[in-house]
Amino acid sequence: MTKTDIVILAAGKGTRMRSQLPKVLHKLGGKPMLTHVLDAANEISDAHKIVVTGHGAEWVRSTYPESAFTMVEQSEQLGTGHAVTCALGHLRDEAKVIILYGDVPLITAATICKMLNAVDDQHISLLTIELPDPSGYGRIIRDDHGQIEAIVEQKDASSDQLRVSEVNTGVMALTTKLLRDWLPEIGNQNAQGEYYLTDLIAIARSAGYSINAVQPISASEVEGINSRQQLADLERAYQLRLAEQLMASGTSLADPARFDQRGTLTAGTDNFIDINCLFEGRVSIGSNVRIGPNCQITDSHIGDGVEIKANTVIEQSTIGDQAVLGPFARIRPGTQLGSNTKVGNFVETKKAIVGNGSKINHLSYVGDAELGENVNVGAGTITCNYDGVNKHKTDIGDNSFVGSNSTLIAPISIGANGFVAAGSTISSEVPAAHLAVGRAKQRNIPGWKRPAKNN
Ligand code: UD1
Ligand code: CA
Repeated sequence: MTKTDIVILAAGKGTRMRSQLPKVLHKLGGKPMLTHVLDAANEISDAHKIVVTGHGAEWVRSTYPESAFTMVEQSEQLGTGHAVTCALGHLRDEAKVIILYGDVPLITAATICKMLNAVDDQHISLLTIELPDPSGYGRIIRDDHGQIEAIVEQKDASSDQLRVSEVNTGVMALTTKLLRDWLPEIGNQNAQGEYYLTDLIAIARSAGYSINAVQPISASEVEGINSRQQLADLERAYQLRLAEQLMASGTSLADPARFDQRGTLTAGTDNFIDINCLFEGRVSIGSNVRIGPNCQITDSHIGDGVEIKANTVIEQSTIGDQAVLGPFARIRPGTQLGSNTKVGNFVETKKAIVGNGSKINHLSYVGDAELGENVNVGAGTITCNYDGVNKHKTDIGDNSFVGSNSTLIAPISIGANGFVAAGSTISSEVPAAHLAVGRAKQRNIPGWKRPAKNN
């Protein structure tokens, strides 16, 4: 049996979230909880995914491409057993089926595999865990030989059963055939008047099958989310998992509790990341990179040996080797900084291609611009790239020098070795190796009397 069908229950309302958004679309580590579960499911080769939705079904469907999963709607939430029954028609013969939950986001592919490996024609598998405080969970009841006999829900449990600390995580795996045979036998004669999936355990036992208990690698894998508080707690657990992975791969963190990753981050070795940095989307970092406190880096590549000083924001950009940025630099989408470049404090760049060794050290805006190598852009230089309707380009050739407080009115070009005098407003081309002075001539007026105070 090599086919795998993965059923993900996600019909619940999530009342305690107090939200219009369906619970499984609330984000953990920057992506919806359901996406985490789907990502784990996608690691199982050729698995079919069936998501059971109810509340906010359309919202869930429209969040994903059509091909991401088969969706079945459970219009009334009559219990977990009923929810799986809704998916029965989509299960394949001769498949192993695992039941996951859209609001239990951190399940890993490794645990899913362990569960599937513990299933055959005679065995079903159940993911259980010992909890110091088992309240709220279904308790695992074992017989004198230690075999699992039944799951008893908290609301149906006797006081003896309530003392059991081994609980049902809800994750179960068995064959399509057994699900088809047994689901119709489940009734709703219990405290909640629901069709409990957990009743399958007792049915399996009375049919002479045995239950293999499997434990997760970490407790966070089976934690479910019912409230925003639980979501925030699990977010911290998830961030710590990511921080540990990053450290294990050779990057030091000043404080793993003050590191946030919402997306994927790949890094070389011997990097150092100071406190309160946020990485979003797809970020890659070379080796020997230092990132100061309070930086935000989104969808970007950072080369080797780069130094990013405090409070720098980088979005959809590429930073060349040995570049030095910040503090307080803002690198907007489409920026490509060459190697050994410097972009200093209060500099904003956008769609700026900056050649190797060029410097924009202070208080500038460089947008829609292409700078050659070893260009020096003085403090307070502004590329006037926007005429109110269209954007225009600024070209600055190799080894040029733009004096401080210059205004470059695009479209404009400055040839190689060009020199712009400080305080110039440049509105026509500066040929190579020319000096451009675009400012009013200074007059000195002798004998100047200061205004006297009126009274
Ligand atoms: C369930 C288990 C319990 C286990 C616990 C672990 C049952 C009867 N009980 O209890 O043994 O300890 O999970 O968290 O299975 N859902 C649907 N359709 C429904 C009902 C539920 O899709 O008709 C979905 C919910 O959206 C939720 C999940 O199934 O994601 C679990 O349902 P819930 O009612 O919260 O079960 P628990 O009471 O937590
Ligand atoms: Ca319930």
